Amino acid sequence: MSKRMPILARRRFISLIVWLGCLGILAGCALTMRDQPRVNPLAESRFFADGSSARPRIPNTVARGQVRLDEHLYAGRIDNRFAQSFPFTITTSILERGQERYNIFCAPCHSLVGDGYGIITEYGMRTPPSFHDVDVRDQPPGYYFAIISDGTRIMPSYERIPAEDRWAIVAYIRALQLSQNADPSLLSPDELPLLDETDPGTP
Ligand code: HEC
Repeated sequence: MSKRMPILARRRFISLIVWLGCLGILAGCALTMRDQPRVNPLAESRFFADGSSARPRIPNTVARGQVRLDEHLYAGRIDNRFAQSFPFTITTSILERGQERYNIFCAPCHSLVGDGYGIITEYGMRTPPSFHDVDVRDQPPGYYFAIISDGTRIMPSYERIPAEDRWAIVAYIRALQLSQNADPSLLSPDELPLLDETDPGTP
């Protein structure tokens, strides 16, 4: 066997060396791009006098995209009183969204029907009031919105739910309230007899 590499193998070897060289150069680029001047969230800083890298909000400024001027939409109030109406038209898809959000955020405490017997009450938490109590039912939409946003007594704030979703939840609570307190006169004469056929004992 000859000691020299066959010509084809030699070409492959050279192109491999060239590729590896290119890779090395590229890796070098990546390094400089990775090492940018930045701080990790809540990391210590020796640059700022207070030693904190997280900076406080600048007074009297509003971050881009965070203007909340619409009092009805963002605070549930009009002229500082609970809004009696929704800030936008409620459609079936908004109700469905509200149902989904309610079941995630509220049902663990307030239960799926809103009577207050959520699963958490079996683990020591006080039973929240039922949404079907007359006092609670009579409250305007803005009241519910404000409680979701601010919390009340031992109920925490759910401000992290976007405002539109909070309204969707309020709309769904209205649907729940109707479901437990529907006026039979709303039914058509054809539907009325069906009431007697319903057996609440079977699902
Ligand atoms: C961790 C349990 C918990 C969760 C989750 C929760 N609540 Fe509550 N909620 C309570 C409790 C407890 C009260 C009663 C507060 C009190 O009186 O101390 C309450 C009270 C309320 C009230 C006031 C009723 C009244 O007295 O007029 C409303 C309205 C309400 N919750 C709506 C909601 C909605 C809507 C959600 C979902 C976004 C939600 N809550 C999520 C526990 C919860």
